[in-house]
Amino acid sequence: MQVHLKLQRDASASQPIEPSRASDFATLNRATSTMRTLLKVQRIAKTLGEGDKRNQIIGDLSFDAREGEFLSIVGPSGCGKTTLLMCLAGLYAVDSGSVMFDDKPVGAPPPGVSVVFQDYSRSLLPWKSNLDNVVFGMKRAQDLNRAQKLEYAQELLASVGLTGFERHYPWQVSGGMQQRVAIARGLAARSRLLLLDEPLAAVDAQTRAEMQDLLLDLAKRYQQTCVLVTHDVDEAIYMADRVVVLSRRPTVVAAEFAVTLAKPRTQLETREDRGFLDLRHKILAMIHQMRTQA
Ligand SMILES: Nc1ncnc2c1ncn2[C@@H]1O[C@H](COP(=O)(O)OP(=O)(O)O)[C@@H](O)[C@H]1O
Ligand SMILES: [Mg+2]
Repeated sequence: MQVHLKLQRDASASQPIEPSRASDFATLNRATSTMRTLLKVQRIAKTLGEGDKRNQIIGDLSFDAREGEFLSIVGPSGCGKTTLLMCLAGLYAVDSGSVMFDDKPVGAPPPGVSVVFQDYSRSLLPWKSNLDNVVFGMKRAQDLNRAQKLEYAQELLASVGLTGFERHYPWQVSGGMQQRVAIARGLAARSRLLLLDEPLAAVDAQTRAEMQDLLLDLAKRYQQTCVLVTHDVDEAIYMADRVVVLSRRPTVVAAEFAVTLAKPRTQLETREDRGFLDLRHKILAMIHQMRTQA
């Protein structure tokens, strides 16, 4: 069955670019200027809460994601990463600025965008089996009949290691397994843009590494543009073509770094690579400095 998205990925996506600070980001912009921008976030601001609980979460924040790019977003805990993702998905309206997907302003949530939420236990439907939860992710897939959807959902559950758990309900499996169902459902949509909020936070270290590789593999196979929010700097670098570092609240983009490490990435070699360690050091030092500047 051929149900994969057929989006063209620009070859320049893998063009080597030296890791650079925001200050010399022009180098990166020049090198990648031929790639189409799929997501454009321009000067957004967002306040949450009412009265004296009113809280400016997002300051004046801008960044782009290009077609086929894997973008990681890191920042100090509580800085507003989930809030940002909700704005990208069109689930929160921004107070000012704009979020454009495929040259159109996002509405809630636009076709072509799918989200794997941080709170996976609340995002899965408890009255549907794991398999039907994944099928639910294909509700907009008019090119597939019910039998094809079931077959594809089964394939996806197998790729996240859940063969044999198709007929179980989410509440009958562990937290890590529920999270994998949520990831399979996010992938089932075959969306052009996949937004992932700490998708691997609840899985053990070994499974986490396997899931990172699986996500990279599937994102490549389905030629998806991914925005991964994580507080784990190692994971952010390992997965990404580019890492966006957020500041404390009200959050803005503190820096962007191109990740030029060879692909396919491997858990041993990539993580021991000098370039990986240098970038890790830079980003961790930056986040540490933000934390201590109380
Ligand atoms: N509905 C809300 N009203 C007021 N403050 C909120 C609301 N939701 C989240 N916040 C606050 O916004 C901040 C950022 O939250 P969040 O986006 O979840 O951060 P992160 O995902 O980076 O940990 C937190 O300090 C949180 O307490
Ligand atoms: Mg969060």
